[in-house]
Amino acid sequence: MKRKKKESEIGEAVLEGKPVSASQSEMTEIVLPAQTNPLGKLLGGQVMHLVDMAAAMAAHRHSGSYVVTASVDYIDFRNPVNLGEIVILKSQVNRVFQTSLEVGVEVYSENVLTGEKKHTTSAFVTFVAIDEHTRLPKHVPPLILTTEEEKRRFHEAGKRREVRLALRYGKFK
Ligand SMILES: CC(C)(COP(=O)(O)OP(=O)(O)OC[C@H]1O[C@@H](n2cnc3c(N)ncnc32)[C@H](O)[C@@H]1OP(=O)(O)O)[C@@H](O)C(=O)NCCC(=O)NCCS
Repeated sequence: MKRKKKESEIGEAVLEGKPVSASQSEMTEIVLPAQTNPLGKLLGGQVMHLVDMAAAMAAHRHSGSYVVTASVDYIDFRNPVNLGEIVILKSQVNRVFQTSLEVGVEVYSENVLTGEKKHTTSAFVTFVAIDEHTRLPKHVPPLILTTEEEKRRFHEAGKRREVRLALRYGKFK
């Protein structure tokens, strides 16, 4: 049975909120042969690794702490990224809960010859902030929402959390 942690264990404190823009992150890489399949397309596993890294950057920046990946509940490959293209990953915190936070990642490819950009992948990754001393989950600063788009993402992240926790714990919390 799941044990509820005491506040003293997770270190609740009055934390100052941070705007979404403070932790938005971007990562770029050029696709090399070792990262591609025989068709010259960036490997799916490689995309997942890059998504995890880009998402972790936003989570680290927002939480100001170590984080662990708790779940990746949605990843969608719309278009391939080809050998020699630049892969661009953009991440932002969608919603903060207590010790966890959901980060959305969008992946784009850029053709270096034509400059054409394509949206290739979307993903949602949930992290839990971990206290560096106790190694227990710790509270995350509130998220300050500014734009309508940020409010929409926040709302949708709440619905996704219900589903992922139901899958994890076998019932709705
Ligand atoms: C993720 C982990 C810390 C959760 O630990 P736990 O003892 O189950 O902790 P709790 O039940 O107290 O949950 C802590 C937070 O995680 C969230 N959580 C747990 N499982 C989750 C899941 N599958 N999806 C989303 N959030 C999840 C809880 O909702 C809670 O968030 P909240 O405080 O914002 O409400 C733990 O399962 C773990 O360490 N997993 C391995 C992580 C890892 O190795 N990742 C890969 C390398 S980084």
